[in-house]
Amino acid sequence: MINIKLLAEKIKNKNPLTKAEIYEAIECYTKNLISDNDFLPFIETIYTYKISDKELYHLTMAMLDSGEKLDLSNLKSVVDKHSTGGVSDTTTLIIVPICASLGTKMLKLSGRGLGFTGGTCDKLESFKGYKTDIDINSAIDLVKQNGGCMLTTSKELAPADKKIYALRNKTGLVDNIDLIASSIMSKKLACGANIIVLDVKYGNGAFMPNKKSAKILGKKMKKIGSYANKKVKIVLGKMNQPLGYNVGPKLEAMEAIKVLKGEEKSNLYHDSVKLASICVSLDKHIPYFIAKHKVKKSIKNKTALNKLKIMISCQGGSLDLFNEEYKTPTLIIKSNKKGKVVSFNTKEIGNIVAKMGTVKMEENDKIIYENGIRTFHKIGDKVKINEPIFYIYASSTQMAEEVGNKLKKCIEIK
Ligand code: URA
Ligand code: CA
Repeated sequence: MINIKLLAEKIKNKNPLTKAEIYEAIECYTKNLISDNDFLPFIETIYTYKISDKELYHLTMAMLDSGEKLDLSNLKSVVDKHSTGGVSDTTTLIIVPICASLGTKMLKLSGRGLGFTGGTCDKLESFKGYKTDIDINSAIDLVKQNGGCMLTTSKELAPADKKIYALRNKTGLVDNIDLIASSIMSKKLACGANIIVLDVKYGNGAFMPNKKSAKILGKKMKKIGSYANKKVKIVLGKMNQPLGYNVGPKLEAMEAIKVLKGEEKSNLYHDSVKLASICVSLDKHIPYFIAKHKVKKSIKNKTALNKLKIMISCQGGSLDLFNEEYKTPTLIIKSNKKGKVVSFNTKEIGNIVAKMGTVKMEENDKIIYENGIRTFHKIGDKVKINEPIFYIYASSTQMAEEVGNKLKKCIEIK
């Protein structure tokens, strides 16, 4: 049996791990031959100490090889995109239907909430009945039929990431370049897309605190991709405030619908348009500005919105959210002064919402999809006295009040 403590010692002492050691550790953990507790030192030492690019590559490949790899060659070109994580980052629910509606095929494997960031998988499940854990063949059939499919990691695809991701979430070992790079790239390589667009977010609402660290993460993921003969496009994006206005699985799903209805032109809209345009431009070999024109048109003429409806219902999801309006919040927080919004403590906003039951901490936890918050301002916006700054949707008035007291400290108005 693999001795994880010994591997951890080697990492600490900068004594390189062999490919065989890394593969054995990942295999034992994925097959449940070692417990979370026994495996944890491996993740802890990677989190705390550095591993080489070669070790990172083997780690990623071991995670990839823990499951099956999709062969999408008979679909010709398939594009994949992934965000490194942020607050109110709902771009997937917008980009996948846009691309699918324009003939750019996408098969998107998404995770659950991680740390202070919401999970796309949880947002998708806000459509009651939506199945995120469909099998590989059904996913490929759906891409053939609809041009796109959104699902989650499973026993088949990147199972090692599914387990390591949950363990990192439970233990707070999240914001680390090597762990993020291997997590994302193992999933992306498992999905078999020939073009991979990576949205690397940095700022106080992202795992990467600054542009420098985002660039390093981007470079590492690109390098892993190039070893695996994949075209990887890195897009850096600043995140010093929630990307959209809403935070929380169902509220974010509703906001994605609003963007596709053309009713909202927030940063979420602009980021989604940009990323979708990059995907379409690379896939169709057309200039970015032409792709952007097509993308905007797909929102304007509702083809992307209709595509999302089809995709949701094909995976068993209810379409009720498409006609639902925002409910009366549990609590409204108003500004006690007049001025301009100068900053948000975005990470704290994400943490507060995660603690409202919107992020799964243990395997058997039930997510409260409805809980979350709405904001109404972006940095630079004017705020009047007594104007609402947060709407809180909580399980109880007590929870809403606690959340409200913390949220007040997350926005700076001057
Ligand atoms: N997204 C992922 O899939 N994994 C990470 O580790 C971070 C963001
Ligand atoms: Ca994510």
